[in-house]
Amino acid sequence: MSEVKTETVKVRHVMHYDIDSILSLHKRIGVKQSNIAYMISSGFGGPMDFSFIAEIDRKAVGVVIAHLMYLYIPITELCLINGIMVDPAYQRYHIGSKMVDELIKFCRIQNISVIRALAEDTNKELNEFIQFHGFKKSHIVNWDKNLEV
Ligand SMILES: CC(C)(COP(=O)(O)OP(=O)(O)OC[C@H]1O[C@@H](n2cnc3c(N)ncnc32)[C@H](O)[C@@H]1OP(=O)(O)O)[C@@H](O)C(=O)NCCC(=O)NCCS
Repeated sequence: MSEVKTETVKVRHVMHYDIDSILSLHKRIGVKQSNIAYMISSGFGGPMDFSFIAEIDRKAVGVVIAHLMYLYIPITELCLINGIMVDPAYQRYHIGSKMVDELIKFCRIQNISVIRALAEDTNKELNEFIQFHGFKKSHIVNWDKNLEV
């Protein structure tokens, strides 16, 4: 693929009609099983939705799915990144960065002072990406209880 020029990448808020493009992008990432369809069906748009999509010539090449959340006691307002993905053919062209920059800008406008990202400790590329954007390890520890269902 020829070089991607960042100025050709358009980043905008995700709309409900982006669902098919996002599912197709998710397939291209190579994830076999996930609940993304269920998450998406809960709807984009509205004041709690902080998701952004990146397009080149109207083709979706990346998405950051993010929501405003109220968590913990005392209740803290923050923006949680549910997930971020860039089409494998377009990775390392700063498309993920362009989306995160827009998200940061939007949070500032909305007076949201914390953005939280989750990353598996084995996902080296994602951890490098998150640190590149100045995220620091949270003092909140994440605990999971796995249930047999
Ligand atoms: C993580 C991801 C979103 C990054 O998107 P991207 O557009 O390729 O990232 P960028 O080009 O904006 O990278 C910015 C910086 O992050 C770091 N980085 C990004 N990808 C990296 C990689 N594979 N290895 C090491 N560092 C990486 C680098 O510091 C990079 O800056 P540089 O290219 O100038 O060195 C993308 O790799 C991806 O979609 N991965 C698969 C899906 C996934 O694991 N999502 C997370 C689960 S929610």
